[in-house]
Amino acid sequence: MTISRQTRRRVLQSILASSVLAGLGTTIRAFGQDADEIITAADQALDILDFEQAARRVLPPAHFGYLATGVDGDATLHANTAGFAHYSLRVRRMVDIRNIDMSVTLFGTTWDSPIFLDPVSSQRAFHAEGELAAARAAKSRKHLQILSTFASTSVEDVTAARGAPVWYQLYPTDQWPITQALLRRAEAAGCPVLVLTVDLQGGSNRLTLGRAVRRDTRDCAACHTGSRTRLTDIMIRKPMFRGLDISAVTDLTPIDMTWDYLKRLRDIWPRKLVIKGIVTREDAELAVDHGVDGLVVSNHGGRAEDSGRATIDSLEEVVAGVRGRVPVLIDGGFRRGTDVFKALALGATAVGIGRPYIWGLASFGEEGVEKVLDILRAELILAMRQAGTRSIAEINQSYVVDTQRG
Ligand SMILES: Cc1cc2nc3c(=O)[nH]c(=O)nc-3n(C[C@H](O)[C@H](O)[C@H](O)COP(=O)(O)O)c2cc1C
Repeated sequence: MTISRQTRRRVLQSILASSVLAGLGTTIRAFGQDADEIITAADQALDILDFEQAARRVLPPAHFGYLATGVDGDATLHANTAGFAHYSLRVRRMVDIRNIDMSVTLFGTTWDSPIFLDPVSSQRAFHAEGELAAARAAKSRKHLQILSTFASTSVEDVTAARGAPVWYQLYPTDQWPITQALLRRAEAAGCPVLVLTVDLQGGSNRLTLGRAVRRDTRDCAACHTGSRTRLTDIMIRKPMFRGLDISAVTDLTPIDMTWDYLKRLRDIWPRKLVIKGIVTREDAELAVDHGVDGLVVSNHGGRAEDSGRATIDSLEEVVAGVRGRVPVLIDGGFRRGTDVFKALALGATAVGIGRPYIWGLASFGEEGVEKVLDILRAELILAMRQAGTRSIAEINQSYVVDTQRG
């Protein structure tokens, strides 16, 4: 039996309209796109999900698998996007909304938008210009960019392309001399903020990646020298480890890392220190007690533990633990301006995106990243106007309802 395109679309639309599936919309929409609807130019995109399919089409299966993967059955990955349905907007009317100000100030620097580019490793696996294209887009659209330790471009080159210092994300490794060398280099490059990622200490079981690698029939050895899985073979290709003796490294995060580690970092890092990967009230309190300047609510985009819990659902308790003492940033599953709005209403200062800008990068390079940022900013402005909020400061808890509590 053949089903016409119109029939398929009608069936899909009725599925999407179903309240039972509310929150799964992004997943369904992504899979439901017809092949001939995949965009061929950045300016054809109607929302940022249009870039996901475009990226899937251009990337080798293993590279797309690396981007897409969560852990185990990807429950946390899907929870991140589905979690936004736990909150609905409580909008106000009759407000003069001619002027909308989206700016936020973080550690003395004011940004035009609360949306920032998350650290994402190995961006040249997605586009030849990798982190440089992302940096140019961040520059032209004036967004904060955080650079990964595992970047495929050096912090010096990215800073030059960004035209301003970026924040530096740290995987310290289990060798202190390497940690020291990374910090010296980030400091010399002018990075004002160090972001210590703490959510991969337990390891991660990336099955979707494993399956994608198995499906990929290309000869990986044509591009990758050495083993694709041995850590030091991967590290050797990353510019931030160039010139360092990495032979003793067995992990990107020390397996015995505890809160005392922050003090060690503090002793050699003179600038702001942010911790990324906090999801509970207890850890938020401990982080602030140990002197962090800020924290990022994150589960690594569902690529770390298989908690099954969305970051948006963790935000309220983290904000409660922090009690306004330091800024709380968040990432994980943000795909719409209204998602960003909900996080701001629940107490976040800024919101990170990972995969979405890499979809843009993979499919259309710098222009793709710019368009992803443009779309999200336009959607956030629209959400702010519709809710009657004229500044980020005006967006507070009264603008959201937790649908599970009523
Ligand atoms: C391909 C990929 C690589 C990543 N690399 C890093 C990294 O090097 N350091 C880090 O702290 N987080 C890394 N992350 C996590 C992101 O910083 C961010 O927490 C996550 O992508 C946010 O979720 P989202 O992709 O749903 O927006 C990576 C995520 C992806 C998808």
